[in-house]
Amino acid sequence: MSNSTSSDSWGSRVGLILAMAGNAVGLGNFLRFPVQAVNNGGGAFIIPYLVCFLLMGIPLLWIEWSSGRFGGKSGHHSTPFVLDSMDKRQFWKYIGVFGIFTNVAVAAYYCYIESWTMAYVYHSISGTFSGLNQGQVADFFTRYIDVSHSTTGIPYEAVIFYVFCLALNTFILSRGLHGVERAAKIGMPLLILFGIVLAIRGLTLGDSGATPEHPDANAFEGLNFLWTPQFDSLTNPKVWLAAAGQIFFTLSVGMGTVQCYASYVRSRDDIALNAVSAGFMNEFVEVVLGSLIVIPIAAGYLGVDWLKENAGFGMAFQTMPYLFQQWGPALSVFAGVMWFGLLFFAGITSSLAMGTPWMGFMRDEFGFSRNKGAWTFGAVVLALGLPTVFFYQQGVFDEYDYWAGTVSLVVFALAETILFAWIFGMDKGWKEINEGGDIKVPLIYKYIIKWVTPLLLLFVFVGSLVTPKNNDWVNALNNGWELDNSSIIKQITNTGLKEQITAATDPAIITALEDKMFYVSLARFILLALFIGLSFLVYLAYKRRKAEGRIT
Ligand code: ALA
Repeated sequence: MSNSTSSDSWGSRVGLILAMAGNAVGLGNFLRFPVQAVNNGGGAFIIPYLVCFLLMGIPLLWIEWSSGRFGGKSGHHSTPFVLDSMDKRQFWKYIGVFGIFTNVAVAAYYCYIESWTMAYVYHSISGTFSGLNQGQVADFFTRYIDVSHSTTGIPYEAVIFYVFCLALNTFILSRGLHGVERAAKIGMPLLILFGIVLAIRGLTLGDSGATPEHPDANAFEGLNFLWTPQFDSLTNPKVWLAAAGQIFFTLSVGMGTVQCYASYVRSRDDIALNAVSAGFMNEFVEVVLGSLIVIPIAAGYLGVDWLKENAGFGMAFQTMPYLFQQWGPALSVFAGVMWFGLLFFAGITSSLAMGTPWMGFMRDEFGFSRNKGAWTFGAVVLALGLPTVFFYQQGVFDEYDYWAGTVSLVVFALAETILFAWIFGMDKGWKEINEGGDIKVPLIYKYIIKWVTPLLLLFVFVGSLVTPKNNDWVNALNNGWELDNSSIIKQITNTGLKEQITAATDPAIITALEDKMFYVSLARFILLALFIGLSFLVYLAYKRRKAEGRIT
């Protein structure tokens, strides 16, 4: 029986772990990880990344699983009242708003990429990419995201795929945890199967893809670049910040989804082992499969130097379909379906998780049925997501990703860690983590959670807030601290964009930049309105609880 007052609960332990792993394994594992790794020096990235996983990722998983299960015992399934159940000071439930806000906002742009993967499965099958050269495949992507163009003859194709993708998410969510569990049970094994097949290709490609145009192409060079550790990176704060950011995004910590899923776990069920199982499954998919596909295949055909210069998020869509063409007509279709299918499954098992905190909250507080919870989530996400679709190139997507998908995660993780380790109290917290545990968590983690994790989080937060010019920390410490335009403070004031406008001379460029400024402000306004709206709902919920005598 579930410990919750609602009827939703996980069907089986395997289902729970697969759903949790599916929540973590996402587009970040295949699209974000390789790019972060390449842009941060390959082997230089890996050590800080693994250290962040052990000192920040795993502790946060335990904190979130145990907070979630703790809140679930009193019938709370989303962070505002999960946090409220841990300390009675009023403001915690408003900090908990982050755990719904982030999910709604991230789902809005995340489902857009997910919808590209659907469209690309379709285009792989229908042979759109066959015979196209590298430039033409890249152009296809540019035309696809320019919503006024159509690549299929269907008007507003990108919008239609987006709405369809969101409707599918909403439909599965309307089946409750059962639907989520089923999607994970189908999606995760298929994703791993497709990933293994493509990874074998990445591992066996060697230098067979070298051409007169790219004579140095060699898949192993790509792997060497990624896997040769460089210990001097340990003193580079820039790499640490990037590694920490990747750990947050990939494990979905600081988001509120883990707490929500865990709140449906029975009160004496294991969480200590479940948390590490799901976490390590994510790391296997990211570090092993995530690094054995795009990097070696791109290096295998185009060379490591090309990879270093061109590593970017679009690689998966702009380059991979062209590279698959080198495998012949039939195999290229299979490869396209496997690659974009894998991305789709990775994406949907994460975006489904993003719907559950809203549904849990609306159900607990306002008695929403599953259907009503799911469809209202779909409607809010659609309203927030359409600007990212229509104004992708004007920067709305990036703005959402920055504030909701990056900054919010750190802020929330820092707050919840302080609450758990210092206010709820580490002795109580340690008991919660180990209660019903199938493993005994090594005692050292009690101290790591209390001291190391919050300090690391504080460093990440402060480091992002006041990132020094050119990320040159040594220079900043010695010669005075000038802020980089990528620091949160300079981002708030749009300093980089303003500088670009001042420097531009071409009127067309100035207009485009001014347009961008407008859309960036619009995106911020939408996000702020969402946060305030959700806070208001939390306030109403609190009033209701008080009126009904549910507050002690
Ligand atoms: N953890 C999810 C991902 O990596 C959000 O994409």
